[in-house]
Amino acid sequence: MAEKRIGILTSGGDCAGLNAALRAVVHRAIRGYGWRVFGIRDGSMGLMNRPLDYVEFDLSVVSGEMLRLGGTILGTINKGDPFAYPMPDGTKKDRSSEFVEGYQELGLDALIVIGGDGSMRILNKLCKLGNVPMVGIPKTIDNDVAHTDYAIGYVTALSVATEAIDRLAPTAASHHRVMILEVMGRDVGHIALSSGIGGGADVILIPEIPYSLEGIVAKIDDVRSEGRNHALVVVAEGCKTESGKSLTQLQTGGEARYGGIGQYLADKLGGLIEAETRVTVLGHVQRGGTPGMRDRLIASAFGVHAVDLIAQGKVDRMVAWQHGQVVDVPLAEIAGITRGVDPYGTLAHTARGLGIYIGESKA
Ligand code: F6P
Repeated sequence: MAEKRIGILTSGGDCAGLNAALRAVVHRAIRGYGWRVFGIRDGSMGLMNRPLDYVEFDLSVVSGEMLRLGGTILGTINKGDPFAYPMPDGTKKDRSSEFVEGYQELGLDALIVIGGDGSMRILNKLCKLGNVPMVGIPKTIDNDVAHTDYAIGYVTALSVATEAIDRLAPTAASHHRVMILEVMGRDVGHIALSSGIGGGADVILIPEIPYSLEGIVAKIDDVRSEGRNHALVVVAEGCKTESGKSLTQLQTGGEARYGGIGQYLADKLGGLIEAETRVTVLGHVQRGGTPGMRDRLIASAFGVHAVDLIAQGKVDRMVAWQHGQVVDVPLAEIAGITRGVDPYGTLAHTARGLGIYIGESKA
């Protein structure tokens, strides 16, 4: 097979396991096919910057250290859509052609994009513009990418959230408190639901299922009447207030991010329950750290499969994990779909079966 030059980039919020995927891609491409691999820095920016910002990988990145390393050695961005790039004067500029020209200047034959659904959608649009063959690898702690049971980073984030509950439980018991843990997840509740079940929460609130303050209070009262002096509440950051308002906080740079639902609940519950309430917002700690075993495994499988797809000429596809197997699906089928928690699925049913209050939908 003729030598190919493939590019790889990470886009969107970072998470644990990205470097393991890079490692697998480099390993398979260089050792398996004798190709050259170019790592594009800072997502699409590396191809939009002049001079181009990239590194050619050699087999040194195939070392096992990459499996253990959190974050992404390539850097990433989760803002700055090239079709509407925010300029310093406040205007938006279409810089998509700079991306395509950058790709051509580097003489690439295909691009592997490691990203969430948002990045994948934008990058796929860019690639279509320049006839760039693209293969996507799903990653996001939110685990909301359609057609894959797991995205890279999710299970590590889940372990961090579960450990946080483990650590909150004894201090809750010591002080007879209700502990509220606010976890990430953007518009979906996968981290909250699974960590809440695994950590033994009494209340789990997720954006997919409406809740009431009365329901939360009734559950906490039940816990007390059964003789336990403390309770654990896990809430997904994307949950709305009872009146349907999303709570966000402005970050440096003016971008709004979810945040505040935990404190909102604490303030509301303050007047309704006797116990003291404390709030922990877990934040970006869920994205950092050493990747767990499941993420190392799927990242490795995804990386190998992505390169194999390019070798077979099967492009415009995303690798996915379904029923214990790596498979691939058309990129067009994941665009614009957010894979939320099924309010009537196994995990929601499990939570209800364990007596956890998860809101008001019918079982
Ligand atoms: O999508 C991943 C995620 O960590 C979300 O869970 C969270 O809402 C968001 O990114 C935070 O973004 P940022 O890194 O810009 O604060």
